Amino acid sequence: MIDQNDEIIEEASALLQRAILHYQGEPIGTVAACDPNVEAPNYDECFIRDFIPSALVFLMDGDYKIIRNFLVTVLKLRSQQVVMEGHQRATGLLPASFKVVRDAHGNETLQADFGDRAIGRVAPVDSALWWMILLHVYCISSDDHELAHSEEFQQAIRQILDLYLKESFETSPAMLVPDASFMIDRRMGVYGHPLEIQALFYGMLMTAQEMLLPNEENAKILDMVRKRTQTLRSYVRIYYWLDVPKLNEIHRLKTEEFGHEARNVLNIHPEIIPDWVDGWLSPRSGYLVGNLGAGRMDFRFFSFGNLLSIIFGLATPEESHKIMNLFEEHWDQLIGDMPVKIVYPAAEGERWAWVTGNDPKNAPWSYHNGGNWPSLIWAFVSAAITCGRADLAERAYVVAAQRLPADHWPEYYDGRKGSLIGRRANYNQVWSASALIISHRLLKTPENLLRFQTMMFNGV
Ligand code: GLC
Repeated sequence: MIDQNDEIIEEASALLQRAILHYQGEPIGTVAACDPNVEAPNYDECFIRDFIPSALVFLMDGDYKIIRNFLVTVLKLRSQQVVMEGHQRATGLLPASFKVVRDAHGNETLQADFGDRAIGRVAPVDSALWWMILLHVYCISSDDHELAHSEEFQQAIRQILDLYLKESFETSPAMLVPDASFMIDRRMGVYGHPLEIQALFYGMLMTAQEMLLPNEENAKILDMVRKRTQTLRSYVRIYYWLDVPKLNEIHRLKTEEFGHEARNVLNIHPEIIPDWVDGWLSPRSGYLVGNLGAGRMDFRFFSFGNLLSIIFGLATPEESHKIMNLFEEHWDQLIGDMPVKIVYPAAEGERWAWVTGNDPKNAPWSYHNGGNWPSLIWAFVSAAITCGRADLAERAYVVAAQRLPADHWPEYYDGRKGSLIGRRANYNQVWSASALIISHRLLKTPENLLRFQTMMFNGV
């Protein structure tokens, strides 16, 4: 099947090429969707997170110029951040997206959005995390270490770290963020310490260590980065992990414990365990829960956070295998007719109303609330191959490749099994196509995987 897919991949590559955004004649990114009938007005912008799968394709092809331009451009755009009255500029914050504006005379300018124009006005916490990870992958892959080592980039790395390591109201090594500050950029009850942000934060800390030059100026921040990497890793592995023994432990937890000897440090009441969890886990499976906080354990299974935890090595090898077993055991629910279910299960009924704020776009089993997102295939395929489960990677790839071109590369799918094209999905969504291309390359040429892994996590 993989070998007979050249036409599909050519079609996906043509979409990716069409999506390239130029500024003053230079390629600087890719637009989110090439759909003239698109509903949202900002899909002609380059989103930092959407560019990641496109960037991985360009890197695999040795097409480095667009990545370098993107990395430089995004840094420059920081000066456009609108600072609210009474606030200071956060130099470590990077935009969610940017676009090229052309006036009547053909003059071009770049316009960035830091969430100030986005629906719900959300600040993109994940942008700088992805930017740092991409910078590392770019440097390793292209051998252009000078870019990260330049004074401008060293300063930017420090500024990002200053912001992300800044003390606020933390009581754990996990990072505290508002709802909707990452791929799930609408209210979905993902405020606090969502897994996806912790996985990206971990990946970013690991890569920053690799890129910061070991000089006097960086000594203090490097020391903080190293310690935070370790405490974050231990914390996630201990407190986010859920399998049958852990579920039993939580089921019998004592509450209202005071002081340093407490075992139930977050005062989780066992009564919050949802009915569906018992029986969903087998002795072979497990996963990292979606979110943690005081009296709060979000048992929902968020695919991307789990897959990134495998890819970045935040999950242990044993945990990673158990996560893959979970996908295998619940194939219909988590992969179904289109990889990959973004979150399981969907919030329904009254729970939907208070989790999403009555958001009709996030109706049960749609969009962020249990929809299926082809853009996540690359992460599934990479994680599966990393765990020695190329069989699962290929199975998921085949499901996606059979439908995506015929359906015109939709943004997302609806339904418990993901068999319906998303009600309000765009067509020609670029990261749906680039995610399939990466998966194909990884499966077809095993050296690509090796190169990809080296690129992502070389030496870390
Ligand atoms: C939606 C998605 C977001 C993505 C954007 C552009 O808002 O939720 O993750 O970056 O579309 O595709």
